[in-house]
Amino acid sequence: MTKIAVLISGRGTNMKAIGRAVLDGRLKAGLVFVASDAPHASGLALAEKMGFPTEILPYNSRGRSAGEAAIDHLCRSYRAEWIILAGFMRILSPEFVRSHKNRIVNIHPSLLPSFPGKDGIGDAWRRGVKITGVTVHLVDEGVDSGPILAQKAVSVRPGDDMASLEKKIHRAEHALYWKTLAGLFSGTLSPERR
Ligand code: GAR
Repeated sequence: MTKIAVLISGRGTNMKAIGRAVLDGRLKAGLVFVASDAPHASGLALAEKMGFPTEILPYNSRGRSAGEAAIDHLCRSYRAEWIILAGFMRILSPEFVRSHKNRIVNIHPSLLPSFPGKDGIGDAWRRGVKITGVTVHLVDEGVDSGPILAQKAVSVRPGDDMASLEKKIHRAEHALYWKTLAGLFSGTLSPERR
């Protein structure tokens, strides 16, 4: 069974959707640990409640290279084959990405390559787009620039506000992420670069 590690920084609702899919067998994978760079991330308590091992990465106390060394160490000890970023708000170093080439997946709340960065939903909202969405992609050495695995469009309707748009985006994320991972692990889905 494919072993995955999930990295979070906050609420962990994407981790929860993936974790549920693992627990009820829709996603044939083992979620071997959930780790956060933010010691008080509420997603950690959620992961614990779901029965997954949790770990804190020492980014705040010891910086990025110690944080990444900790991820490496944990992946080796838990034998994680894939690193799944689910609202992990740190930029991974090019060296780290190279050493886990095509083994790191991210979800981003916009239709990349539009609106990369920390606030994909807010940036799209302020730009006044009528269609935005969600992207799942492999992580490369750039920011939100890796090969796209899957996307789902979300319409901005008259009457929407930031809060309702956020809700729709998150709903789309929770439906798309585990399915994309299932396709990736079973070999039925691969990134296309043309
Ligand atoms: C999600 O919307 C995810 O797409 C976004 O952070 C949120 C985390 O929510 N990630 C990024 O913006 C990465 N650039 P969650 O903690 O509830 O899963």
